[in-house]
This record gives sequence, structure tokens and C-alpha cells, in this order.
Amino acid sequence: MWDALKAHHETVKDRRIETMLDAVRAADFVAQTGDMRLDYAKTNIDADGRQLLIDLLDQTGVAAKRDAMFAGAAINDTEGREVLHTALRNLDGDPVLVDGVDVMPEVKATLQRMVTFSKAVRNGTIEGQGGPYTDVVNIGIGGSDLGPAMAVKAMAPYHNGPRCHFVSNVDPADIAEVLRGCDPERTLVIVASKTFTTIETMTNARTAKAWMSEAVSDPASQFVALSTADDKTAEFGIASNRVFGFEDWVGGRYSMWGPIGLSLMLAIGADAFTAFLRGGQDMDRHFRAAPWQENLPAMLALVGIWHNQVCGHATRAVLPYDNLLMRLPAYLQQLEMESNGKGVSMDGKALAVNSGPVVWGEPGTNGQHAFYQLIHQGTRVVPCEFLVAARGHEDALHHQHQLLVANCLAQSEALMKGRDLDEARGKVAGKFEGAELERQAAHRVFPGNRPSITISYPQLTPHVLGQIIALYEHRVFVEGAVLGINSYDQWGVELGKELATALQPVIEGKQSAEGKDGSTAALVDFLQKHGV
Ligand code: F6P
Repeated sequence: MWDALKAHHETVKDRRIETMLDAVRAADFVAQTGDMRLDYAKTNIDADGRQLLIDLLDQTGVAAKRDAMFAGAAINDTEGREVLHTALRNLDGDPVLVDGVDVMPEVKATLQRMVTFSKAVRNGTIEGQGGPYTDVVNIGIGGSDLGPAMAVKAMAPYHNGPRCHFVSNVDPADIAEVLRGCDPERTLVIVASKTFTTIETMTNARTAKAWMSEAVSDPASQFVALSTADDKTAEFGIASNRVFGFEDWVGGRYSMWGPIGLSLMLAIGADAFTAFLRGGQDMDRHFRAAPWQENLPAMLALVGIWHNQVCGHATRAVLPYDNLLMRLPAYLQQLEMESNGKGVSMDGKALAVNSGPVVWGEPGTNGQHAFYQLIHQGTRVVPCEFLVAARGHEDALHHQHQLLVANCLAQSEALMKGRDLDEARGKVAGKFEGAELERQAAHRVFPGNRPSITISYPQLTPHVLGQIIALYEHRVFVEGAVLGINSYDQWGVELGKELATALQPVIEGKQSAEGKDGSTAALVDFLQKHGV
């Protein structure tokens, strides 16, 4: 099935995108749901290529796999788990069965407990030793950090609750900086860990408890746990009414819709959090019902597959022209790379094509003054994904927002059009002549023909944020389903954790580095000589 696409790519790869870009294409190479629009007209995908890509979805049974996921089949089959984060945003409560049991009553009950708790914290009914909570510290890592941290930042205009901080790194610099700015008597600590065993999180949680114990007589009363592991949260000393649980069928990087999103609910309130869930649910409905060509997650996935597996572009830049989405690239790095960064297919055989791409990025316009040089003139093509809102939240500064939008659109235009040698000569004519003119002009050539897509929406509201996150989640699903990957396990993170555990006594000087490779032993030696 890849041969036809690769053969098609061979025939079109030298074509200039702009030569195709008339008004018909501009209207056709777009998918829209509600007010959210995905524009992929500035790519080298044509109608034949698009059909071949859509054929991939049928050849790999994506519709059946999608329906199986929503129906509660154990599609994470290396861990024997269902994949049901969508149940967390199933606001209308239609039954979702796992082994014949409807999980929705429990999902709704947990959501209601979160609502009751967050209201009480926000109105001061539940308070710390020193009075109503002013600060919330979420301690978690990976999916127990990146989602809520990204969303709390993204929803800054809607904040009307306590200040929320995030601690993830085991590097003591992280927690020290956050706790320095908090009053222990008015700080609520959330320990967010699906497993409640993650070394970084548990180490930071103990540090926070020790910090609080110095000022608060019952520190555990100012702790909350978000976890699937009741026994371990109890062992840590957190009362069961302060534990918000979820089930194994919620993957870490897909978990911000449930208890892991508590910090977001505390920051923006239950109604705005519900609007966020509604946005996710609306995207689920669209994904399940829309024909492929109109289906945003499907088309977003196919554009990615075209660029990565077919054209061979190894990375993808995510460039939000929306400063509120500054943590989106980091969030997507885990979502996409931990999900589809795998060289083995479901059947245990090597993948026939490359795994998912390297995802990276920064908000515009900052990136323009940092790495866009390479995107425009480097020797490797980096497909770009722009996100842009029609309106910001600062009405009085709308002219600045307009400048932001102009920059976003200008970048995709520049990437596509480039600047040829003649035009470049025109830029330097009069300043140089002869061979020097040619040399100077060569530096000012932009190859162009660099693909990009643009996702646009009216304004980054809680509902739109929910749509965006669910869009990317389903994109990852489609990409994984086409590649034959299990997008829901993460065995690739295990080896480093095991070796770190084994190395700790060596670093502490309790064991020798004997048996370690020469490089590792030499690094231990150097760091020990310098005081580790
Ligand atoms: O190490 C990877 C990982 O398991 C992620 O998948 C997960 O999001 C993160 O660690 C944190 O896990 P937990 O929520 O169990 O602490």
C-alpha cells in the first residue's frame, strides 16, 4: 500500500505548490468542524495523493479500529487495556461498557466529586491551616504534568481561582523555586501520578510534605492525590476523601480530562472545565461521524503521514501563533512521540515505514527570531503546523493581535513561495556588482515549496482548547492505526528507569562502578571528584 503513494510522490515531488493554488484548491483542501478549520492547501498533496492517503485508512481498517476504541475494546493489547479517555468527556453519559459494565456512573461520580471539591477550595470552605488556599502545587511528570500545565497556561484569561504551579523534574531546583514562592499554610499540594510509584513524583511529594510539616500541624490534610493506586495513596497518608481515582483504561498522556485535570478545574472553575470537556466531546463526535475527507483528525493524520512516511521529512514543527499555547509543543511531544515513536508493529514485526516524527516547536513570533532561519533556508524540509486565533483576549490591544496574525500568514506564504535568484539579485542590485552581486544574491535565495498547514479558530476558549487537544489525540490514533503501532503503551521508557535505579547507589558512592562501561564509569568518576 505504501508503494502507490511513494510512486505518486516520485511523480509530483518537484512540482511547486503555488502553481496548484487557485481558489478551487484553496476551498477544497480544507476540513472544517464548527468554527475550527484545517487548511492543508499549502502542501504538495493533490487530489490523487489525497485519495491514495484516504485509501490507507480503508486498507488498514481505521474506521473499525476507531469504533473498537470508543466501544471499550482492549486495543492496548500489550498491556491488555481498553483506551477510554473519551469516556471522561462523555458528558451526556451514554453507556460505555468495559467487560459488560457501564463505566459512566463512576466517571460521573468522580467528576461530581471534583466539582464539589474545587468549588469548596475556590470559595474557601475547604481551606489550609492559615486560611483559604492561595496556591496549588501540582506534583507530577509526563502525562500527569504536561497536559494540565499546558492547559492552565492556555486558559490564563479564564483564571479566577488559586494560583497553580507545576513541579515535575526530580532536579531539586524545580521544587525549590516553586515552594519558595508559596505559604505552606495556604498551599494545597496535588500529587498527580497514575501509578503513584514514579520516582520523580514520589521524591518531590516527600519533599513537599517535609516542607509543609515545618509549618502545618496536619500536612496530609493539605494534600490531594490523583491516582489509580488507592493502596499507595493511603500509604502516603492521604485520606480517601482526598483521592480522586481513575482506571487503567486512561493512559497517562490522555488523562487530563479526568482527575489529572483537577488543577485546571481549580484555576478556571467547574463550568469552564465542563466547556473544555464539551469541546473534546464535540471533536469525538466529529471524528466518529464525518467522512474521511471532511474529518479533521483523519486529514491531520494523513498530512502527517504524507510528510513523514511518504516524503521522508523526519520532523514536524508545531508553531502556535497564540502565546497561550506556549506549552502545546511540549505537550504534543509526549502525546505524539510516546505514542507513535515505536519501531515495532502490533504483530511484533519491524515497521514497514518510519515511526512517527520528531515533534518540536515554539510560539510565533518568538520562533521567527530563533530557528525559522533553518526552516526557510536549511537543507532539510520541516513541515510546519501553524495554529492561529482570529481574536485574542486583549480587546484594547487588538492591533497587536492583527500583527501576530499577519506574521503567521506571512510565514506560511514565505515558506511556500520562497524567493528565486532573479528576485534576490534585484534585492542587492545597486549595492553590489559582478561576482560579488552573484555571491550576495545567492545568500538571499529562499528555496520555497516548503509545506505547511494552518489550524484556525475564532478564539482560544475552553471549548476550543478541548477541540484542539482531542483533535491531536485522534490524529495520533489514526497515525498509529495506519502504521500498525500500539499507540497506548510506552515500553521504550523502561530501560533508562531501570538503569537509573541501578546507578543511584553507584552515584552515592555505596557501590563501585565496576562492570559499567568505560564511558559511564569515567563520568561517575569525574562527577564524584567534583562533589556529586
Ligand atoms: O515514564 C513514562 C510515564 O509512564 C508516562 O507515560 C506517564 O505519563 C509518566 O510516566 C508519569 O506516570 P505516572 O502518572 O504514573 O506518575
